[in-house]
Parts: sequence; C-alpha cells; structure tokens
Amino acid sequence: MGVSFSHLVSASDITRRDADFLVESAHGMKEEMERRRTDLNVDRWRDDFRRKRFANLFYEPSTRTRFSFEGAMRNFGAGVSTADGFQFSSLIKGESIRDNTLIVAGYDHDVVVMRHPDAGSAKQAADALDEFRNMTGRHVPFINAGDGNNEHPTQALLDVFTIQEECRRLTDLHVSLAGDLKNGRTVHSLTKLLSLYENVRFTFASPEELSMPDNVKKVLDAKSIAYREVRSIEDAIDADVLYMTRVQKERFPNTTEGQADYERLKGSFVLDAPMVAKRDTVVMHPLPRVEELATGIDYMKNGAYFRQAQNGIPMRMALIHALMHVDQQPHETDKEYAIRRGIL
Ligand code: NCD
Repeated sequence: MGVSFSHLVSASDITRRDADFLVESAHGMKEEMERRRTDLNVDRWRDDFRRKRFANLFYEPSTRTRFSFEGAMRNFGAGVSTADGFQFSSLIKGESIRDNTLIVAGYDHDVVVMRHPDAGSAKQAADALDEFRNMTGRHVPFINAGDGNNEHPTQALLDVFTIQEECRRLTDLHVSLAGDLKNGRTVHSLTKLLSLYENVRFTFASPEELSMPDNVKKVLDAKSIAYREVRSIEDAIDADVLYMTRVQKERFPNTTEGQADYERLKGSFVLDAPMVAKRDTVVMHPLPRVEELATGIDYMKNGAYFRQAQNGIPMRMALIHALMHVDQQPHETDKEYAIRRGIL
C-alpha cells in the first residue's frame, strides 16, 4: 500500500484516499515512536531503511520542517545529508535547480526533500528527477518542503493530521484561516487538502492586500465549497479551527516602501487569549509566530500549535514510508474511492 503520487509538489497531488491512508499511517508511526521510547527493542523500520540515504536541501531558513524531516529520516535509521542555506550551495554560483537536483540524486540518495525561496522551484526539481529516471532507470521521489509563497504540502498533511487529533473528525468543519493569506504557503496547501473532505467550509480573514489568491479560491469554486472573506480577526473566531499565520516579512519587496507596508500590516491580525477563552475553537499556527499570537494561549486547551509541530515527525515518516513503497497497482480515483466508501 502506498500513495498515488510519485513526487509531492503540491497538495493537489494528494487524493482523498492518499490523505486517509497517510493520516492513519501517521497515527501508527506516532504510536510506534511512543513504544520506542519505553522499549529499546522495538525497531520495526531499521531493516527496510538501514541502507537508505536521504537528501535534505534547505535553501531557505527552516527549523521545524528541517528538523522534523531529519528526525523522521533518523527514526528510520537512514543516512541523512543536509544542505543548509543558499549561500553555502552551488546555487549561489548560478547552478540551475535541475543540475543541482540531478547531482544530488546521482549521489545515491533515495529521496530528495527541498525548500527553496522561488515559487515553482519544486516542480523544476521533480521534473529533474523524472529526467534522472529516464537517464538511469532509478526513481527518486521528490518532496516539496516549501517553494516560495506557493505551497507547503507536507505542512498541510501534518495540519490535517492535527485537526483529526484535536477535533476527532475531518468532515463537517468550519475552518478559519487568518493573517497573510497571500504569501503564506501553508494556507494555500491546507485549503486545497481540506477541500477533499465533505462539508468543510472556510472563513478567510486578512487585510485586503493579503487576501487568499484566486488560484486557491478557484479550487473551492470548482467544487462548490463555501467560503467567506472577512477583514477582521473577530469575524473569524467562531469556528472549529482558527489557523493563524504570520505576515511574511521576507515576501515584501526589500525597498523602503515594501518594508513600510510590512510594518503597517504586521500587527493587523492579532489573537489574544481572552478572545478564545470560553470557546472550543482549536487554535493552530504553523509557527514561527511573531506578534500575531499571544503566548497566553500556549497554556490554554485551545492552543494546539506545539502539538501540531510535534506531529511533523510522524506525518513525515508516514509520507516517506509511503513514497518508498509506491504501490505498483493502479490507483483508484477519488470518485471510485468515494463510491467504495459509500460517500457518494
Ligand atoms: C511555515 C513556512 O515555512 O512556510 N513554517 C513552517 O514550515 N512550519 C510558516 C512560516 O514561515 O510562516
């Protein structure tokens, strides 16, 4: 059993069947991690992965994503090579993403993970690995760990896993996404992934200039999924999940005007503890936070973001495991899967 995609570039690559499979698998990985804490003899994965080598290419700052990919890879007992920072890689010398990816794959890596500041870079790397397969006959899966302001599909997977754990369901939900919806790649991927579940409706809360992009809203329109756009955080609080994001300073032009815009917008959507006290709203955040989320919420039952970050390891384990065991069987379409499960 595996997943239907051979590379993960966008949340749109994930079918409902893939998502259900990965959420269930991540639960299993989490339980196994727990068992390993108390029983050193538990080592289910070592034989499968002992000889595997994973490449972690981080050409943009990262703490959670990099460490949780590394943690997932090390839990499998695999070797990990990490590129840390654009300035220390050959990309700074003008090397193309294609060449860079071909070289890394050629060093016998079994999975390539990349974060890069340019939107669209993930697709270029995945295409390079398809070329690599044509050249060598060896398939190396690619995983997008964030490409500019475009997408962050593995964050969406761990977010969905967290919603399942916190709300005990992934259907019949009202999810509010707040902050920099224009530049925040996590909200683009999460909206697309949540659109696979029945009866999920959205509230998008942001200043006008930082609205959810049309290409994401089009995905919802095509499926007749309800969403509303609001201009104040107060209008977004009454939801099952409130997903906060920071205003993405690095995506504003590095000019006096660009940075003045950032300064003006950064404090526009701030969530304080009293705003969610006495409510059941689950507060999530991909982190890092700057000033949009009060630390007081850390101590409230609503604050799920540290648990959310911890879910990065089991979900990335589930994803890597599935990609390394890509099912050779033809995959069901979402429609076939829905009919089989009685959803349609
Ligand atoms: C996010 C990212 O890098 O897009 N962080 C993360 O991966 N957990 C969110 C952010 O940087 O604001």
